[in-house]
Amino acid sequence: MDTIIEEGKTFSNSLVWKLQHNAYQLSGPRAWQISNNPYIARSYAWQTIATIRDWENELIKDEPLYIIEIGAGAGRFSFLYLLELKRLLPIDQPICLVISDNVDTYLEFWENHPKWKVWIEEGTLDFANYDPTRSSVCHLIKSNRTLSSPKNPIIAITNYFYAALPNDLYQFNQETLEAGYPILKSNGITAEHLEKEPKLMQEVEVSFEFRPVEQHLLYPDDPYFDDIIEEFRKAIAPNTPFLFPLEAMRTINNLKKLAQNRLMIISGDKAFHTPQELEKYCDHRPIITGQGDANVDVNGLALALYTDKLEGRSFHYPRPPRTDYKDVLFSNWVTLFGNKGAQTQDSFRSLFENGFSPLDAHKLIDKLLSGDDTFTIDQTLSFIKLSHFDPQMLFFYKSLNMKELFHSLEESTYKVQGEVMHNLAQHFFWIHSEDNEIGYLLAQGLYYALDFPLCQEILLDLITLSGESDQFRFFLGLSYKAEGRLEKAKEQFQKTLKLNPNHPLAQKHLT
Ligand SMILES: C[S@@+](CC[C@H](N)C(=O)[O-])C[C@H]1O[C@@H](n2cnc3c(N)ncnc32)[C@H](O)[C@@H]1O
Repeated sequence: MDTIIEEGKTFSNSLVWKLQHNAYQLSGPRAWQISNNPYIARSYAWQTIATIRDWENELIKDEPLYIIEIGAGAGRFSFLYLLELKRLLPIDQPICLVISDNVDTYLEFWENHPKWKVWIEEGTLDFANYDPTRSSVCHLIKSNRTLSSPKNPIIAITNYFYAALPNDLYQFNQETLEAGYPILKSNGITAEHLEKEPKLMQEVEVSFEFRPVEQHLLYPDDPYFDDIIEEFRKAIAPNTPFLFPLEAMRTINNLKKLAQNRLMIISGDKAFHTPQELEKYCDHRPIITGQGDANVDVNGLALALYTDKLEGRSFHYPRPPRTDYKDVLFSNWVTLFGNKGAQTQDSFRSLFENGFSPLDAHKLIDKLLSGDDTFTIDQTLSFIKLSHFDPQMLFFYKSLNMKELFHSLEESTYKVQGEVMHNLAQHFFWIHSEDNEIGYLLAQGLYYALDFPLCQEILLDLITLSGESDQFRFFLGLSYKAEGRLEKAKEQFQKTLKLNPNHPLAQKHLT
C-alpha cells in the first residue's frame, strides 16, 4: 500500500464520491433486496395513504398528487409500490409516481421495460433525471412538465439514498473542532485506473487524518449546517468522529422548496438516530461495494436536527435491538413539513415502530431461503403470504421437482399453491439475467397450476427482456400444447429447434 492516490481533500470532495456516479453508470440497474420487495412496497403505500388522509381537505382534485421516488435505481420498488397504491387509494384523487435517478443507464432501462406502458399512458407514472442535492426543480420526461410549484403537497421516497451521498467528517478533540481528511492508498492503482474501472476501488485502503478546522463559517450557503455541527459538541462524546450528511440535508431542503413547504418523505436507510447509537455503532468509514460505489452509515440525528430548524418534524424509532441477524442495517423514518401529521404518526407507529417492519420481513425471508432449517410446503406457503407474495421466495422451489410436487399435493393445498403462484406472478419485475431463474420457476409453477395464459405471459416477457432462449420457447410450446392450441405450440417447438437443433424434446413434440 505505497501509492497515495489522494490526501488533503475534505471527505465530501474525495474521489470516493467522484467515482460513485461512474460506478452506478457502469454496473447497470441493481436492486437492494430489502428495499425492493412487495412487503416494503405495501408498507410504504399504507404510510402514503395515512398522509393523504392528513391532507385530504387541502387536495386539489383536478391536479395529480405527485409522489417522487429519489435515487430509484432499477425501479422494482417503484413498480410494486405503485401497484399497491393504486389498489388501496381510498379517495378519488389522481396520483402520479415520478421515478427519478441521475444515472442515464437506469433511465434507459426504465424506458424499455414493458411493465410501465399502461401506467405511462394513463398518466400515473413519469420519469425524471433529477438530482435533489443540487436542484429544487424537477422536469418530468413523459408529460414534459416541470414540477416547480405543485398545487398539491408532495410525497417523496428515499430508500438507501442518503447512504449513497457524500458526507463530511468531524470530531471534537476537547474544545477543538477537527475535520477528517481521507487518505486513499493502494499498491500501484492510480486515480486514472479508478475512473476507468471503479471496481478497483475495493483494493484501495481508506483511512482518515484529523486536523483542526481554521475557518469560522464552514458552510456559508446554509448557516444551519454550522449550527448543527456546534450542537454535536454537546450531543456526542469528545473524540468521537461523526459523519456530517450535508448532501442529505440539501436534499431535504430542496424537496421542501420543490413542495412549497407541504412535504412528507418516507425514508429507509442504514441510519442512527440517537447520540448513544451514533457513539456505539456508527461506522464513519465508507463501505465499497463489489461495483466500486461507496456508502456510509447515515447520521439520522443530524437530519432530525436539520428538519427541526426547517420547522418540520420527523418520526423515527431507535435502532432495532441486536439480533442474530447481522447482515443488514435498515431503519425507517418519516419527515414531515406543513402538517401536524396525526394519521401519519399513527400509521408510522403501527407499520414501522411497533409493527412487523420491512426489516423483520427481510430477516424471515432470508431465513427461509438460507436452507438452514426445513420447512414443509404448507409452512412455506404461509411464509410466502407473510412476505406479501415476494417472488424471491420462489428460490425455495429450486431444489424441488415442480411436477412431482404439484402432483403430490392434496386438493386443497394444490389450490392454495396455484393461487400463490398467481399472486407471485403479479409481483414479478425483471431487472437482469439473474432474474431468469425466478421467472422460469414461476412459469413452471403456473404451468402445473394450469394457469396457462399467465405462464405464457411470463415466458414472453422473459424473452422480450432477456433475449431468445430455447428453454423458454420450449416451455411456451408445452404450455400452448397443454391448452390445446396446437398450431401455436408447433410454432414454438420450431423456434426452439432453430435456437438449439439438438434440443432433445422439441423434435419429439413436433412429430
Ligand atoms: C444505494 S442505491 C439505492 C437504489 C434504490 N433506491 C434501492 O433501494 O434499490 C442509491 C441510488 O441513488 C442514486 N443516486 C446517487 N446519488 C444521486 C444523486 N445525487 N442524485 C440522484 N440519484 C442519485 C444512484 O444512482 C442509485 O440508484
